[in-house]
Amino acid sequence: MKPSPVVLAQLGCGYWGPNLLRNFSALPGCEVRYVVDASSERRAFVERNFPRTKTLESADAIFDDPEVAGVIIATPAGTHFSLAKQALESGKHILVEKPLATTVAEVDILARRAERRGLIVMAGHTFIYNAAVRYVKRLIDAGELGDVRYIYSQRLNLGRIRSDIDAMWNFAPHDVSIIQYWLDDQEPTSVLRQGLDCIQPGVDDIVFLNLAYPKKVIANIHVSWLDPQKVRKMTVVGSKKMVVYDDVADDKIAIYDKGIDRKAVLGEHMDFDHPARIDFNYRSGDILLPRVDFVEPLRLEAEHFLDCIRNGKEPATGINHARTVVSILERADAAHAGHLR
Ligand SMILES: NC(=O)c1ccc[n+]([C@@H]2O[C@H](COP(=O)([O-])OP(=O)(O)OC[C@H]3O[C@@H](n4cnc5c(N)ncnc54)[C@H](O)[C@@H]3O)[C@@H](O)[C@H]2O)c1
Repeated sequence: MKPSPVVLAQLGCGYWGPNLLRNFSALPGCEVRYVVDASSERRAFVERNFPRTKTLESADAIFDDPEVAGVIIATPAGTHFSLAKQALESGKHILVEKPLATTVAEVDILARRAERRGLIVMAGHTFIYNAAVRYVKRLIDAGELGDVRYIYSQRLNLGRIRSDIDAMWNFAPHDVSIIQYWLDDQEPTSVLRQGLDCIQPGVDDIVFLNLAYPKKVIANIHVSWLDPQKVRKMTVVGSKKMVVYDDVADDKIAIYDKGIDRKAVLGEHMDFDHPARIDFNYRSGDILLPRVDFVEPLRLEAEHFLDCIRNGKEPATGINHARTVVSILERADAAHAGHLR
């Protein structure tokens, strides 16, 4: 006998929501029964494109429908906490777009509610379901890159400016999530932030984040919606090899067999007044462009949410991962020296 479908409801179907709705609607064993959106235009969009899904203006009815097992939250970041809390209080599992909430205190409240009722909390950190990001993780874990020395990330483009959150809260959850995944969710020892509000006072368009980790690893994240180019690039420099992950390139991953090693060169006659000279080995070997089999990350994310609901599994982007991301962004805000005058 076929198991009955998992019934879901989605809150918010603006710019990003349609991608979630498309993927969940296409999943076997899943029924997206409702979409709630405050905008009549967005409800009309859903009615045109997803005629089997009922649209609503307010979420109350979905919280009251006992057949709704899970709620997908794709509304603006500032609304995530209250909607997520309401959904958990109504006994629903939740998939919340990034960032899960805007403070660690809020994340902890959600964690307690979910634990008490045995509910799943998953954050939409999509890149953890991205084949290229997972490929780099496997390289790091297998020791292919040697010791990770530093990572830097650029997520830049022109436009889609928001007023409710700055460029850091909008973009950097992705970079922080990926770096945390690669570095096994280690807690950074320091978080520094510098940004600039050029267009709207108090809303940074450009942010540089500097993170330091134990064992001499550093990371830099540059996000901006005020840039001439669309760039989605991350570079990991290891002691053995280096890798560039470029999300907008055809070859998403390039592995460089490059590095510099120190070697001590002893003079022919040992002279204690002139100790061993230090020399360097420069390695500049091949560049490998591996084939990465790609499945749409949101499809994998959607399947994973369903699997977690059905089988009571802890999501790969569950509360612990989401909490570290929020905690780092919150620490970055606290480190913000104020806007330049
Ligand atoms: N994973 C990703 O790659 C990715 C990409 C873009 C956006 N996002 C995330 O998706 C979320 C939505 O972003 P967006 O760019 O689609 O925003 P958006 O502003 O384009 O859309 C939000 C929608 O939510 C609706 N809405 C607002 N408050 C509501 C409420 N209380 N109840 C019901 N509907 C409500 C709005 O009418 C709008 O249609 C954000 O959390 C964002 O960070 C994720």
